[in-house]
Amino acid sequence: MLAIMGAMDEEIELLLTDLQDRETLERPGATLYRGVLDGVPVLLTRGGIGKVNAAMTATYLLLEGADRVIFTGVAGGVHPDLRVGDIVVSTDLVQHDVDVTALGYELGTIPGEVPAWAADERLRVAALEAAGEVEGVRALEGRVASGDQFIASAGDVQRLWTRFGAACAEMEGAAVAQVCAKAGVPFVVIRSVSDTADHDANVDYRTFMPLVARHAKQVVRGMLARL
Ligand code: ADE
Repeated sequence: MLAIMGAMDEEIELLLTDLQDRETLERPGATLYRGVLDGVPVLLTRGGIGKVNAAMTATYLLLEGADRVIFTGVAGGVHPDLRVGDIVVSTDLVQHDVDVTALGYELGTIPGEVPAWAADERLRVAALEAAGEVEGVRALEGRVASGDQFIASAGDVQRLWTRFGAACAEMEGAAVAQVCAKAGVPFVVIRSVSDTADHDANVDYRTFMPLVARHAKQVVRGMLARL
């Protein structure tokens, strides 16, 4: 079954409102919903903020039978061309806050794990096509950098751009990617840019988050028609 995840209520509430035949599954620290969206059987959940919550909730989804996972939400733009309202479809994902360099590993690499987790080609194509249909939205493909940090400085943006080649920064995607990759389950992360991760990021994020979360949700709906 297709699973759709967001981190916050604002990222999934519009999908939840339209979920038909809704069944609620309570799990420790998370609530999952099973139902039908635009005729497609889905699992839907708000996973909470940060990598640990994301990994835990993704695991619950997989145990419930998820065979594809779409993560939808907002991000801080890192790629210099990105503006608020643009959409990033993940090519691959890194965990920018992992640092085992003292033991000789590349920054971002967890010993024994790949340095970046690749998103599913078919889901990526469907997401890009669907994004192309959302009025006034520019979509690009790029690397998503995740970490347990809200990025709000030009220095950090520069670091994520030069060290990782990241297009955007958020706090969950690469954790979901790591869990899905271990289970061999295809995934994609779709992020709508709410801020440009600089010193105004906190203000822009609060202002634009509800608006741009709607864009990401529209992309998910466009994908449902294609999958
Ligand atoms: N989500 C939205 N904006 C973000 C930022 N600047 N850093 C991390 N996660 C975000």
